[in-house]
Amino acid sequence: MLITISALTLAFGSVVYAQQPVWAQCGGINWSGGKSCLYFSPITTSPVITGPTPPPTTTIGGPSPTITFDPWPTTNIQASGTKFVGGGQPWTAVGANAYWIGLTGLNSTEIDAAFSDMRKAGATVVRTWGFNEVISPNGIYYQSWSNGVPTINTGPTGLENFDLVVNSAWQHNLRLIVSLTNNWADYGGMDVYVKQITGSSNHDLFYTDSRVIAAYKNYIKTFVSRYSSNIMIFAWELANEPRCKGSTGTWSGTCNTTTITNWAKDISAYIKSIDPSHMVAIGDEGFYNQPGNPSYPYQGTEGIDFDANLAIDTIDFGTFHAYPESWGESSNPSSWGVQWINDHAASQKKASKPVLLEEFGVLNNQASVYTAWYNAIISSGLTGDLIWQAGSHLPRGDTPNDGYTIYPDDPVFTLEKSHADALGGNI
Ligand SMILES: *[C@@H]1O[C@H](CO)[C@@H](O)[C@H](O)[C@H]1NC(C)=O
Ligand SMILES: *[C@@H]1O[C@H](CO)[C@@H](O)[C@H](O)[C@H]1NC(C)=O
Ligand SMILES: *[C@@H]1O[C@H](CO)[C@@H](O)[C@H](O)[C@H]1NC(C)=O
Repeated sequence: MLITISALTLAFGSVVYAQQPVWAQCGGINWSGGKSCLYFSPITTSPVITGPTPPPTTTIGGPSPTITFDPWPTTNIQASGTKFVGGGQPWTAVGANAYWIGLTGLNSTEIDAAFSDMRKAGATVVRTWGFNEVISPNGIYYQSWSNGVPTINTGPTGLENFDLVVNSAWQHNLRLIVSLTNNWADYGGMDVYVKQITGSSNHDLFYTDSRVIAAYKNYIKTFVSRYSSNIMIFAWELANEPRCKGSTGTWSGTCNTTTITNWAKDISAYIKSIDPSHMVAIGDEGFYNQPGNPSYPYQGTEGIDFDANLAIDTIDFGTFHAYPESWGESSNPSSWGVQWINDHAASQKKASKPVLLEEFGVLNNQASVYTAWYNAIISSGLTGDLIWQAGSHLPRGDTPNDGYTIYPDDPVFTLEKSHADALGGNI
């Protein structure tokens, strides 16, 4: 999804962050109790940064709301045929997007509250942004640029902030899909690399200029290595919605599907070389490359060939998005989306790899459209899905609302939960 920073500023005002006590709860690696546990008051800090450490099991303070938690994970999730497995067991991938969770200066109490809401909607996976490229450092940012030279921010406003996200994900038993850059100019993304290093505005140089590729790999190396032994990472993603063109619209004129497929091979193999134990996906919108097809998302004109990309050895699962109202398919978004889901489920079977509908949204008739799409996901055997996007009412204010956001008091929230249960339930 293309998002704007102004929406965020409105939602949150000034940026605040602080170290916070984490939550203690039953569970832990050898937890053998029931699945319903009490969620207790915070007692201690727990620096879960590079590897799994069970949440503290000692508790003080009064029990507050009852939430269902499941046994804590001990292994990475892997693809197996068209499914996912964790610890040898089938593993259901379902959940939501929350790009803002590590970007808006939420403290760990607020991150906990947001993840807790996602958990109540049945989520097992949350997709978020692991990047913010800035020229003028401000708030949370992960890499700053000056005269073409990038500096990764490893401090409290940078990677240490992302540590809070990973730590809270552990506390809530939520796995993370982390995108490492953006096709769009939101949070900097590809255009900052290209402009800073080459001086050009041609978006697609991101995929072909060797200096740009080296700089992106350098960022990947630092970010991915930091969490390479952390089991809360579900998968790394090459980019949010890579396309030949970006927000500025300028391009060299030569980028096509081959360009992005070759780039995806190179970058995914690079990630595997530094972190062989986590899955890697592209993060694209799942466009097909069928020149002449009357429907825009099937024409290949954005430089994406879903089937070719899914065949790449170092890509573990396929991703696609669904925004019919923005893709010239607004006359019947519901049935168009059902066909789009069925087509990707067919690609999934052909490639024998999992495929996730990892972003979807309409602005009108959400409950009825999502009901039709959820039914199609179940009946087609599609591996899983993540809604765009999760929302929480926090004491400081609401998390960003772009019109697609589902807060816990929205009727779609309960629909998400029943769909998650139908797909396989909480893990
Ligand atoms: C879990 O149980 C196994 C087998 O009893 C034991 O080897 C392991 O140390 C335990 N792990 C923790 C974190 O207690
Ligand atoms: C992409 O463009 C290159 C030349 O720039 C060409 O060789 C290649 O066949 C094109 N690929 C596709 C899928 O059109
Ligand atoms: C976290 O932020 C909230 C504001 O939403 C604030 O009330 C709370 O005190 C903060 N916690 C800490 C420890 O900073």
